[in-house]
Amino acid sequence: MSKGSLTILGTGIEVVSHITFESLDKIKKAAKLFYLVNDKILEEWLLRQNPGGISLAHHYKTNLDREKIYSNITSEVSGEVIAGNCVTLVFYGHPCVFVRPMRLLINALEPKGHQVKILPAVSALDALLADLKAPLSTEGLQNYEATDLVLYERHLDPRSPLVIWQAGTFANIKVSSELGLGTNQKKLIFFINYLQRFYDGKHTIMIYDGSIYPGYKPEIKSICIKDLNCNVLTPTSTLYIPPSQQARINKTTLKQLGLSQ
Ligand SMILES: C[S@@+](CC[C@H](N)C(=O)[O-])C[C@H]1O[C@@H](n2cnc3c(N)ncnc32)[C@H](O)[C@@H]1O
Repeated sequence: MSKGSLTILGTGIEVVSHITFESLDKIKKAAKLFYLVNDKILEEWLLRQNPGGISLAHHYKTNLDREKIYSNITSEVSGEVIAGNCVTLVFYGHPCVFVRPMRLLINALEPKGHQVKILPAVSALDALLADLKAPLSTEGLQNYEATDLVLYERHLDPRSPLVIWQAGTFANIKVSSELGLGTNQKKLIFFINYLQRFYDGKHTIMIYDGSIYPGYKPEIKSICIKDLNCNVLTPTSTLYIPPSQQARINKTTLKQLGLSQ
């Protein structure tokens, strides 16, 4: 029996227009294709490229813990790889960016000698940097998941831009029955208070919802940290917090490195 393998790829943020030639080729030629995507048009397009594609959406059941869902997805996909198939798995965005099953699948398959390959793709961060015209430069970039940030008390540096993922599902580990937000104002207060340990409440941040259809504009809202609320967030919002302080150069080091005039 031949050894099964897994390729994990992402479709990017914009439906179809962000897909790479490499990923398209892989989707078309996949002997066994699984997918978990966020849009009906994207799903229909995927099935036109490869009519044998199987959706993993059936694992999402109301009130089930996300971790349980991810473990069920891992079992279904890894089962096919272990059975000797060359499997391709498709997510939206970039497969390494906040896609928990990707890590679980690597942990399940690589120790057993199965090859796992990840193909690069356009993430929400790539779309955000372009739409906000925010250069990734010498100021650096901080990137945190909203719930993780607060629970692990990650240290923030107000001299560097900050991107926060999944604020719209802050402190929610279950799948909600309706399509609405997975968080509520009572919970969100913890997040707002945490940000205010590092930033003035009046500091203006941006709420970014990138368009998932080509030709449409992103939705970008500005708001003060203290005014952040559930009405302005969506499940796909990403927050961009510009620096509130300027970094100061260390003149002694500058001199020691021979960089001063
Ligand atoms: C489970 S993660 C998936 C990220 C995805 N793998 C990527 O590469 O961007 C979901 C989070 O990604 C961000 N996100 C997804 N779609 C987005 C969009 N259209 N605009 C802005 N942020 C988005 C939000 O922070 C959302 O809570």
